[in-house]
Amino acid sequence: MRIAVLGLGTVGKQVVEVLDLERELFAARLGEEIVVARILVHDQDKRRPESMHSRLTYDPRDVLDDPDIEVVVELMGGFEPARSYIAEAIRRGKAVVTANKEVIARAGPELSANGRPGADLLFEAAVAGGIPIIRSLQESLAGNRLQAIYGIVNGTTNFILSRMHEDGVSFEEALQEAQSRGYAEADPSDDLDAVDAARKISILASLAFGGWVDVDLVRREGIRKITADDVREAKGLGAVIKLIARAEATPEGLLVGVAPTLIAKSHPLADVGGAQNAVYVRGEPIGELLFEGPGAGGPATSSAVIGDILDAARARRVGGRSVALPLEPAALLPAEVHQNAYYLRLRVREVAGALASVAQAFSEAGVSLRIVHQPPGGEAEATVSLVTRPTLRQHLERAREILHSTAAVLREESCILAEME
Ligand code: HSE
Repeated sequence: MRIAVLGLGTVGKQVVEVLDLERELFAARLGEEIVVARILVHDQDKRRPESMHSRLTYDPRDVLDDPDIEVVVELMGGFEPARSYIAEAIRRGKAVVTANKEVIARAGPELSANGRPGADLLFEAAVAGGIPIIRSLQESLAGNRLQAIYGIVNGTTNFILSRMHEDGVSFEEALQEAQSRGYAEADPSDDLDAVDAARKISILASLAFGGWVDVDLVRREGIRKITADDVREAKGLGAVIKLIARAEATPEGLLVGVAPTLIAKSHPLADVGGAQNAVYVRGEPIGELLFEGPGAGGPATSSAVIGDILDAARARRVGGRSVALPLEPAALLPAEVHQNAYYLRLRVREVAGALASVAQAFSEAGVSLRIVHQPPGGEAEATVSLVTRPTLRQHLERAREILHSTAAVLREESCILAEME
């Protein structure tokens, strides 16, 4: 079977190398050889491995117009022209494998609706790299009614937060290290501002709960505001800060969001360190499941891409997989009715009654407190860390307003989601 690879970056190169190297093994598994016949690249001046020279092309027509290319593997990244190439390949009856979460999150339903038996769209590598979560949701767990998915689905931010937590390094230092290891997106804002994680949770939520979750409606908060003090104080509370992507079915609608969250050390995702990804799934009748593994980088992504290529190839011979993405929009939970716990850290004057006036502010706003912690402080000022019980955002905002005008409170240093129960 002749296939083509679009893009020869870290992942593309590794995919071609493994397919070349393991040709016999894969042929034995499939009963047919997979041959990378064409590799589409953009930059004519870049040096490429010699074994790939005869297959290079700079013209997408050499792939899309070639009826003998049965599977197109899109590893270029970015939205356009990747989306157009995928759409055309599908229209022309080719199967497509992609690692492109932007294309799937923004155009997945239209693309898969264009499909027909034998023209599949596979994207295991788009979410959580090497973890087989897409196929698990589409197939292995299809017999469940799923209730919740919590994930650490961005390796770069998990690496940064883990380095800050374990070694006390600065945010900038940890970011640089993540970039030099090749985890970060070309524009690190996509990682830091949770754009990448929002795309991934919108894809997971759409597969798990059966309605399409528009990525622009996913509530999203990044990690730029997390400071070394936040990380240290979290530690003092027996907690850790993680960028948690979550999708949860509630009677009023689907809750989908990404935010840095203070989680207890006993939380299933608390020990997921470095650039690892993890996805926790809860449903009936399965109960709880935890998937963990490398979520970013060449080897993890190539593993998922090659699995999809073999699957697509096999499916071509039996009439296609055709697992379509849902087209109908999901019913989302309105933000106003969503209850969350929050972590707040305040600087207060070291005076009698300071703590009482803080407690009074929460009491007046109708917000119940679960943890109040005061680390040893100086003569004139003190720090107070608080974790609330789940509350409506409007009640929290009311408490913050009152705190703002409370004489003993100097300033709020932090306010992030918490999940300590
Ligand atoms: N930038 C992404 C991450 C790469 O850090 O997880 C994999 O999608």
